[in-house]
Amino acid sequence: MIIVYDSLTGQGKKFASKLGYKAVNIKDYQRDDDPVVFLVTRSFNFGEIPTTTYEFLKTFHKRVIGTAVSGNRNWGTNFGKAGEVIEKEFGIPLVTKFEMGGFDSDIKVTKNFLETFS
Ligand SMILES: Cc1cc2nc3c(=O)[nH]c(=O)nc-3n(C[C@H](O)[C@H](O)[C@H](O)COP(=O)(O)O)c2cc1C
Repeated sequence: MIIVYDSLTGQGKKFASKLGYKAVNIKDYQRDDDPVVFLVTRSFNFGEIPTTTYEFLKTFHKRVIGTAVSGNRNWGTNFGKAGEVIEKEFGIPLVTKFEMGGFDSDIKVTKNFLETFS
């Protein structure tokens, strides 16, 4: 299991570091790295998937067991919406949406999900 994060301002990276598995920047993930991937990504511009995440998923979506998506509730119905778009487009379950570096409850839900794969 490896955590891959797409994080611009560091919130997703912080969240990824709390999960208890090796975590790598999405730009550094290689084909011969661990093939069981949990993706931490973000939402921008009304729920869009960042290009970095989209390109990664085009290549590796079959390796991704789930996502956690950072966002901000100020974006209303678009809060963390990229997670829903990824779920629909790639069939990858959205485990949680989180703000800031994630609350304890977000970390707990995610860790519980990851344990079912390890
Ligand atoms: C231009 C811009 C657009 C954003 N759009 C959304 C959005 O549509 N939905 C959302 O939940 N958050 C949105 N956000 C908030 C970011 O997703 C949030 O700050 C997130 O925590 C960033 O994650 P990172 O620190 O890992 O880069 C937006 C932020 C910016 C600067």
